[in-house]
Amino acid sequence: MANVVVVGSQWGDEGKGKIVDWLSERADVVVRFQGGHNAGHTLVIDGTVYKLSLLPSGVVREGKLAVIGNGVVIDPHALVSEIDKLAGQGLSITPDNLRIADNATLILSLHRELDGYREDAASNSGTRIGTTRRGIGPAYEDKVGRRAIRVMDLADIETLPGKVDRLLTHHNALRRGLGHPEVAHSAIMTELTSVSERILPYQETVWRLLDQHRRKGARILFEGAQGTLLDIDHGTYPFVTSSNTVAGQAAAGSGMGPGAVGYVLGITKAYTTRVGEGPFPTEQNNEVGQFLGERGHEFGTVTGRKRRCGWFDAVLVRQAVANNGITGIALTKLDVLDGLDELKICIGYRIDGEEVDHLPASQGAQSRVEPIYETLEGWKESTVGARRWTDLPAQAVKYVRHIEELIGAPVALLSTSPERDDTILVTDPFED
Ligand code: IMP
Repeated sequence: MANVVVVGSQWGDEGKGKIVDWLSERADVVVRFQGGHNAGHTLVIDGTVYKLSLLPSGVVREGKLAVIGNGVVIDPHALVSEIDKLAGQGLSITPDNLRIADNATLILSLHRELDGYREDAASNSGTRIGTTRRGIGPAYEDKVGRRAIRVMDLADIETLPGKVDRLLTHHNALRRGLGHPEVAHSAIMTELTSVSERILPYQETVWRLLDQHRRKGARILFEGAQGTLLDIDHGTYPFVTSSNTVAGQAAAGSGMGPGAVGYVLGITKAYTTRVGEGPFPTEQNNEVGQFLGERGHEFGTVTGRKRRCGWFDAVLVRQAVANNGITGIALTKLDVLDGLDELKICIGYRIDGEEVDHLPASQGAQSRVEPIYETLEGWKESTVGARRWTDLPAQAVKYVRHIEELIGAPVALLSTSPERDDTILVTDPFED
């Protein structure tokens, strides 16, 4: 039986929430494997709205095990508030239904501050990334720099002061250089020890637990955050997040081998959006972009920022199909395009007069990319709530079929409204 990885195939915000919720109902275990509380989605279950950021979607469903893997960066105070907020809504989150990798990296207040200092300084020099300011990048830097504090360190009060010392040697030098006040050792110790009792009961040797579940034949859903174009290696660097967001990370970020993954579902919006700075070849800084933003309610879940909007970019999604090994896509928000006279799809790029079939890695080349469009006739009818192909206008079917052809992957699911049941199901990723 196939385990499923869900990834975003654009710049995030493709509408993963609804699809992940639908799949988590079919799964036994739901695993986050990268990112942190920079992600965010809203689930509506039996009329109750749940806002999740760091917790895997499995926590809202009874009988599911939610797992935070080693590839995630965890702000322990943000995690405790998220758990408490959901408890206030009547959900019980205990070590029975949530486990956290003991080798996952912690985000501390100094990471959040550094993220903010850098973004503020960069806004004056025009090199701002537009991060969520939650300390994600600085925490990953410390992980790779081998000076991070990890979940298991909270349990070892003897060695923790030495680890904090090492971390502060680095951070205080950095802060002095940036003209910001140093952080006291005692402040970080208090920050950590004040939360350790709330975190430690959830700590687990996650790779081992997942291996046991896999051997028993449990269905595992790996829940990706952000999107392929925000991947630290494959995205629009440096305007990316600091983790690998591609499907391969599901293995490394949870401690399972790549063979544990069977089906890769790429969540794909019927047009394109991004938040933050960076290249966006099909961006429509005009009435089309405004129409998509308003109709699609394109505001960030975490930061409330207005998302930039543009036409569907088949070049980028084709690249994402390759980078992730996408088996099928879940196409979302088709209904947002209802009523447009014509639709454009980007099928290639021109850079300095030369045609190219992919987005080059160079930042300079990315900024000079000009999209080559194909124009399709739009449809006047509403597609909201369609549950069968025959409910869709002929032009909408043509648009979807053309996307499949251009990106080289089939539609497994088509979502036509935020409601769970307003979905055309072609293939259930969990079925063999
Ligand atoms: P960071 O992840 O906070 O470091 O932000 C780096 C970039 O990733 C910025 O452009 C953010 O807007 C973007 N980003 C981070 N998380 C998300 C997400 O969940 N959806 C969309 N964009 C995101």
